[in-house]
Amino acid sequence: MENKKIFPLLKKTREKALALYSNFKVSAVLVTKEGKLYTGHNIESSSYGLTICAERVAVFKALSEGERKFDKIYIMADGPDFSTPCGACRQILNDYAPDVEVILVKESGETRTFQVSELLPEAFGQRHLQAAKK
Ligand code: THU
Repeated sequence: MENKKIFPLLKKTREKALALYSNFKVSAVLVTKEGKLYTGHNIESSSYGLTICAERVAVFKALSEGERKFDKIYIMADGPDFSTPCGACRQILNDYAPDVEVILVKESGETRTFQVSELLPEAFGQRHLQAAKK
């Protein structure tokens, strides 16, 4: 049922992507524990390295609104394949939304679901910094 709402939102958000250089459009919908939705799409820069991915835009939007508890993140990209989050996005998910289900969505509606710990095993995190301070 949720998908009926989320999939069209992913498509609509992906259309807004500012993928001027790669032309590879990505969207994400982050769902909070309370069921609130935060969308994100990739935003590219003429200085390519400043580009930010759809997933991080969604996470940063939610964090900046005070959200801290997340349930799921849906991701849809251009092309026929499932698109997995890049390494930087995996790190941010591990830092701020380690328990979310990461749901990759194809144009057809087919999905694959991962845990963040599967996508980023042996992750670096806050605990390493805390342990070093002791
Ligand atoms: N991109 C995302 O938005 N999310 C990812 O996880 C992978 C890559 C974007 C960044 C860039 O705008 C384009 O896809 C090509 O790398």
